[in-house]
Amino acid sequence: MKKEEFILTKKGYNPKDIVSFGNMFLLGNGKYGYRGTLEEYREDEMVAFNVLGLYDQYQDKWRESINLPNPFFIETFVDNESHSLLIKKPINHEISLDIYNAAFLRKTEFEKINISSMRFLSSSEKDLIAERYVIAVKEDVDIDIKFGVDLDIYEINGPHFKDKKLEVKDNKVTFVGLTNEDKEITTFTIYQSDEKMTYVDGWFHIKKKAKAKEKITIIIYSYVKKEGGCTSFNQDFDDNYKMHATSFNKKWENAYVEIDDESQFDLSYSIYHLLILEDMNSYHSIPARGVSGQTYKGAIFWDTEIFILPFFTLTNPKFARNLIKYRIDTLEGAKQKAKSFGFDGAFYAWESQEDGLERCSKYNVTDPITNQPIRTYFDEKQIHISADISLAIERYYDFTLDESIFVEGGYNIVYECLKFYISRATLRDNKYHFDDVIGPDEYHERVNDNAFTNYMVYENARIALKYFDKYVKYTDKSLSKDKINEFINKIYLPKPNKDGVIEQFDGYFKLQDKKPHEVLKMRKNNKEYLGHLAMNTKTIKQADVITLLIIAPHHDLSKYLRSNYDYYYPYTEHGSSLSASMYSLSASKLKIEGDAYHLFKKSAHIDLGIEQKMYAGGIYIGGTHPASNAGAYLSVVLGFAGLTFDEDEIKVNPSLPNNVSGLKFKIIYRDKKYLIEIKKDRSYLIKEETL
Ligand code: IFM
Repeated sequence: MKKEEFILTKKGYNPKDIVSFGNMFLLGNGKYGYRGTLEEYREDEMVAFNVLGLYDQYQDKWRESINLPNPFFIETFVDNESHSLLIKKPINHEISLDIYNAAFLRKTEFEKINISSMRFLSSSEKDLIAERYVIAVKEDVDIDIKFGVDLDIYEINGPHFKDKKLEVKDNKVTFVGLTNEDKEITTFTIYQSDEKMTYVDGWFHIKKKAKAKEKITIIIYSYVKKEGGCTSFNQDFDDNYKMHATSFNKKWENAYVEIDDESQFDLSYSIYHLLILEDMNSYHSIPARGVSGQTYKGAIFWDTEIFILPFFTLTNPKFARNLIKYRIDTLEGAKQKAKSFGFDGAFYAWESQEDGLERCSKYNVTDPITNQPIRTYFDEKQIHISADISLAIERYYDFTLDESIFVEGGYNIVYECLKFYISRATLRDNKYHFDDVIGPDEYHERVNDNAFTNYMVYENARIALKYFDKYVKYTDKSLSKDKINEFINKIYLPKPNKDGVIEQFDGYFKLQDKKPHEVLKMRKNNKEYLGHLAMNTKTIKQADVITLLIIAPHHDLSKYLRSNYDYYYPYTEHGSSLSASMYSLSASKLKIEGDAYHLFKKSAHIDLGIEQKMYAGGIYIGGTHPASNAGAYLSVVLGFAGLTFDEDEIKVNPSLPNNVSGLKFKIIYRDKKYLIEIKKDRSYLIKEETL
C-alpha cells in the first residue's frame, strides 16, 4: 500500500463544489458523520455533524436523523477583511481526505496568511471529534479569529431542537439541546489556544496584532456526553489522533483489496466509506446514505442486508452480526406494520429507524413543475424487504456458522416474515400470487407477480422449512411444517419464456418498447420524476430480475443469466446506485469482462463523481452511497475473483478484466481467515492466515 493511494485531494476553490465535496470528503466513525465542509461554512453550505440512530420529528415533516450544532465554526479576519472563502479568493486552496487514517485536511494560501487545518472523528473514542486550525502569518497584520459552536443547524426537515442552550465557562462550551421528541443531548466543546480568547455575543475571538512568521493555533475537541457517563479524555491532539488512526488503520487489515489497476483508489475509497460506518458497540444498523446526513431520513433500507452486510460478513463478521441484531430488535415495529395493513407476522419497514416502524412517507417525490407531491407506494408495496432480511440472515449463518443468530431471534424473524407472506398471498388457480407489489425497480408500481418478489418469498419459506425442526421452539409455533410445505409448493414462480427471459412482472412484456434515453427525452424539467414517465414503458430504474439471479441462486435459473442480462441491460437506467454492481456481478459470471469492469467502476466511483443523482423529482437525495460502495467491493471479490463457497470449501474462478493484472485480499469465512491472491494468468493462491 502506498501512502498516495490513500489521499484524495482537490485543488482550487469553486462554490459549485460545496455540496458534492461535502459528501466526497465525509468523515465518520460509525456513530457520527461530519460532512467535508470548511470551517467558515454554515447552514447554507450544508455543514452537518450527523448523529446515527438518533431521530426526531418536527411537526408533520419527515422524521429524520438529527444534526448537532457545529463546534468547528471558524472565520478569520485579517486587517478587518474576512478570509472566508465564501467572500475572499485565495491564492491557492486544497482539501484532502486521508482515507487510510480517516482525516480531513485543508490548506489555504492567502496573501497575508496561510490557513491549514486537520479534523478527525475518533475511531477509538467514538464520542470525540477534534480539529486543529493553524494560521501562519506572513506579514504583520491585525488578526481577528471568530469561532465557536454554531447554533444555526443545517436540517432538511427541522428544526429538531425545540430548546438550545449554550453555557460558556472559560474555554469550554456546553450545549444542551432538547429535541422535539424530548430527547436531551449534551455536547462539550473545548477550545484550546496559547492566545487570549474573549467571548462576545455567542462567539469566541482571538484578536491580536500578529507578527510575520507567527503561528496561531486553535485546537477544538467536541465530546458528546455519554448516557449516564462522565466525560473525560486526554487533551493532547497528537495523542488523540494517534489513537484514532491506529484504531482506524486496523479496520483496513481485513478489508483492503489490492487491485492491480488504476481503479485502486476508487475501490479503496469505496471501502473507506464502509469502514467509517463501523461501530462495534452499536446496533443502529446503516442508513442508505450512511452518516452523510439526513437524506432518506437517515433510514435503513434493504441496501444494508443485500449489499452492505455481505461486505461486513466477509471482513468483520462480528459487526455484521450487529447489523442483524438491529433487525431482531426492531421486529416489533415490523409486526406492527403488518398488523396495520391487516396482515399477520412481520412486514419490515421500507425505511426503518430505531424502532422499526415504517418511516417511508406516502409522498416521496415532488413534481418540480407543479410542485405537487407525488404519491409513491414504496412503504406499502415493496414487500420483498422482509424476505431480503430473511435471506441475509441465512447468508450470514452460512458464512459464519454462528447458530446463535437463529437462536437469538434470527429464526423468529424468518418465521414471522413467512407468516406475513402467507397472509399477504392471493390463492388463484391453485397458486399463491403476490398482487399489487413493487419489486426492486421502483418505476413500476403496483404490479402483480413481480418475479423477484415471488422468488424471494419462496426463499423465505425455504429457509423457514430448512431450519424448522431445530429452531421452531424459538417462535410462537403458530405455523406448522405442513402449512409451510403447502405454501411453498404453491407459490407462483414465473418461468423463463421461450427466449429464456423471465418477465419482470405480469404484463411487463406488453409495455411500450422505450429505452432509458428515450424516456429521459420525455422530461420537461431535468428534475422530473422518471417513475411517472417510465411506468408505461419497459425502462426500469434498477436491476430487478438480474438481482434475483444473483442473490437467490437456488432455483436452477443460472443458465438463464445470459438471456436475461442481454434482455434487461438495454432497458436499465441505473437510476438507483444499487443497480450497476448487480450487472457487474452478472457480467463477471458471464465472462463479459468489459461490462463487468465498466459497471464496477460505476459503483466504485459513485461518491467521487459529481454526476450522481441529487434529486428525485425535486427532493434532495444527495449524500454517500454505502450500498454502491459495497457493491463495488462485491463486484471485485465475488465477481472478478469469482469467489464462491461450498460448505467449508472456498472456490475461486477468476474473471479478470483485461486491465486488471492481479488481485489480493483477505476474507473471513467460518471463523478462519484467508489470503487470496490472483495473478494475471488466472493462477491463484488461497492461504489460511491466523485470525
Ligand atoms: O433502497 C434503495 C431503492 O432500491 C432505490 N431507491 C433508493 C433506495 C435507498 O438507496
